[in-house]
Amino acid sequence: MLNFDDDIATPQHSSDAAPAGVNTSNRVRAADKRVINGTTDVNQLVPFKHKWAWEKYLAQCANHWMPQEVNMQRDIELWKSPNGLTEDERRLVKRNLGFFVTADSLAANNIVLGTYRQITSPECRQFLLRQAFDEAIHTHAYQYIVESLGLDEGEVFNAYQEVASIRDKDEFLIPFIDVLTDPKFKSGTLETDQTLLRSIIVFACIMEGLFFYVGFVQILALGRQNKMTGAAEQYQYILRDESMHCNFGIDLINTIKQENPELWTETFKAEITELFKKAVDLEYAYAEDTMPRGVLGLNASQFKEYLRFIANRRMQQIGLDQLFPGVTNPFPWMSEMIDLKKEKNFFETRVTEYQTGGALSWD
Ligand SMILES: [Fe+2]
Ligand SMILES: [Fe+2]
Repeated sequence: MLNFDDDIATPQHSSDAAPAGVNTSNRVRAADKRVINGTTDVNQLVPFKHKWAWEKYLAQCANHWMPQEVNMQRDIELWKSPNGLTEDERRLVKRNLGFFVTADSLAANNIVLGTYRQITSPECRQFLLRQAFDEAIHTHAYQYIVESLGLDEGEVFNAYQEVASIRDKDEFLIPFIDVLTDPKFKSGTLETDQTLLRSIIVFACIMEGLFFYVGFVQILALGRQNKMTGAAEQYQYILRDESMHCNFGIDLINTIKQENPELWTETFKAEITELFKKAVDLEYAYAEDTMPRGVLGLNASQFKEYLRFIANRRMQQIGLDQLFPGVTNPFPWMSEMIDLKKEKNFFETRVTEYQTGGALSWD
């Protein structure tokens, strides 16, 4: 939801009442603030213009959690028990973590070294600072699961170099990250602004909004079968954070479009649509590789449907035509997992409510 609160604390240019020695002529006006290529002082949070970003920052702080608060004892016992999990389930857990243990470091580096310096709205920067910390928590959570289960760290942390279905996803993403982390990159022309917007779309809608979802479904499905409930609880909190990151990214994209309508050309839209198509194929290949025989009552065709459903949703959220009209969600229970109104742990291993304030709305 976009919200331009120009009326909040918009300062006056008048210097009538300024005390001696105070020059008010350079005050930031909310109306002048821009998400990209802005010229207002990025150190002045207020007056707000992009109030939706500040509200999401507050909401995300209310979602704060830490991995070591989750009890992993049942998971450890199940993992160590010879008959606790099938071989397919163990492969799934290891491949799943193989993607995630590095994915959130890529996300953090993309924010800190890439996106952050291109964003000239201090309220959007405030959200990105929180998001960067969230990504550190997520990397911590995945590492904590690997360590708790006593997995082979070499195998899991190298998977992103060594397992083709994981490497392919990362190789798709990395050029879009590299272009922004290049210190020579500078926005401000039609071409570079489209490059920036393209990277933001890939990161928010494809990486956080699509490439995480097979992995989330897998571990949450295990949790629903009362297996790996500690890991599933962690993934539930991560999913909640990632949904917020994705929604922030969508607001960011839509505001950039609104402030710079010339970027949204037919050619650009067609190119982004192609990227979604490619991403669905890559994520589906990852689903097949992690579950070659089907596992947990989940099968490949359900994942194909689910990824198409999510891609449609993301495309519609940023104003593109859906690629796969008519598909439905084969995992409606995933919506419950994202729904913050529950405000309690789905797996009921603990009942602490993390959310401490602020009503959140999700779509
Ligand atoms: Fe993350
Ligand atoms: Fe994220």
